[in-house]
Amino acid sequence: MTTKCVDDFRLKLGEKELVPIMIGGMGVDISTADLALEAARLGGIGHISDAMLPTVADRRYDTKFVKGKLKKYKYNVDNMDKTEIKFDLGEIEEATRLHVGRTMAAKRGEGMIFINCMEKLTMNAPRETLKVRLNAALDAGIEGITLAAGLHLGSLAMIEEHPRFRDVKIGIIVSSLRALQLFLRKNARTNRLPDYVVVEGPLAGGHLGFGLDDWNKFDLATINTEVIEWLKAEHLDIPVIPAGGIFTGSDATRFLETGSAAVQVATRFTVSSECGLPEEVKQEYFKASEADIEVNGISPTGYPMRMLKNSPGIGAGIRPNCEAYGYVLDSNGKCAYIDAYNREVAAHPDAKKIKVYDKTCLCTHMRNFDIWTCGHYTYRLKDTSRQDDAGNYSILSAEHVFKDYQYSKDGKILLP
Ligand SMILES: Cc1cc2nc3c(=O)[nH]c(=O)nc-3n(C[C@H](O)[C@H](O)[C@H](O)COP(=O)(O)O)c2cc1C
Repeated sequence: MTTKCVDDFRLKLGEKELVPIMIGGMGVDISTADLALEAARLGGIGHISDAMLPTVADRRYDTKFVKGKLKKYKYNVDNMDKTEIKFDLGEIEEATRLHVGRTMAAKRGEGMIFINCMEKLTMNAPRETLKVRLNAALDAGIEGITLAAGLHLGSLAMIEEHPRFRDVKIGIIVSSLRALQLFLRKNARTNRLPDYVVVEGPLAGGHLGFGLDDWNKFDLATINTEVIEWLKAEHLDIPVIPAGGIFTGSDATRFLETGSAAVQVATRFTVSSECGLPEEVKQEYFKASEADIEVNGISPTGYPMRMLKNSPGIGAGIRPNCEAYGYVLDSNGKCAYIDAYNREVAAHPDAKKIKVYDKTCLCTHMRNFDIWTCGHYTYRLKDTSRQDDAGNYSILSAEHVFKDYQYSKDGKILLP
């Protein structure tokens, strides 16, 4: 048994020496600026998310992006052809600059703030919108970009002209060695290696980089070791950061002792006061049992997603809301939810309210915190806090959770 703890290690990124704890990006504004800022203040790395930033900016900074877009496309609300619904690139840029700029201006401490950027937010113009999001984040001073939810085979080329391209930290999230090899091969032309690789296993929250039927055949430690050994054999000195199911400081220490440079964690922070989930949803996370959590195929992105079975967004047959949002529309203006919705409407022409179970209107429900995505070990969150007589758990501070990861030993979890 090890006597070490996470604090005995440091993550070296260029000139920086960091506490090797990275809080993963959680869209839509679940990993808030406040949460990321705490990680940075404590010497680690925090992530904001770039998912749906126009609506996040409306809520946080009093802009009116969603209202404006809905007004522009109101004529199309009953039309199931969404090909005309486009984002204004200037507005995406403005929303990104606002969120990143305000977050960076508030930063204190020696840690760093990165942004999680998902390729699967295709926004009915995948290349154009992603390019604007990435470049605007760089303009606004983000210290690192974590490329997520997709292979990102062309993403580095989108920012190679940016003056900060060689100084910003760039990481890629992969769930297999093959995905990493493909990323490196396709981006080789830019002559720029990633500064870190996050290896995300099948126990993570959010979307999974595995198949719906085979995710449980994989395990993080195995994939992580494969990646570490391959990089070593190729003489590539890139920090590897495992993610998914690392629940205690001791879990993290085990990875650090076997060649990982840091860990990426998220689920433990979903019940922190800085997390963007509403208070009552945090209680749902605390109370969940193992049987209350599932991996399903309802995300229209096509990736499996883990969530609480009692998420209100499951089965809610709302009208597609692409005129206001439309973040998941593919390059042809299609979303799998629209098809599922139309099928149910056709099957129940007289129904006032319909149910759609096989797909969900992800934009609307993530925006409203009605899809409760979570990591596999969410059912252990109850062991990280105290319950009052009414059955409610104490919300934790992000600092408490961070320091528990940093200092705890022997599989122990410090209660508040
Ligand atoms: C509520 C929630 C939302 C998430 N959203 C995203 C996301 O938007 N993009 C992403 O790349 N990963 C997302 N993740 C994955 C985390 O960033 C992280 O890699 C993973 O959950 C770590 O495993 P853990 O939760 O077991 O600690 C999310 C995780 C959770 C719990």
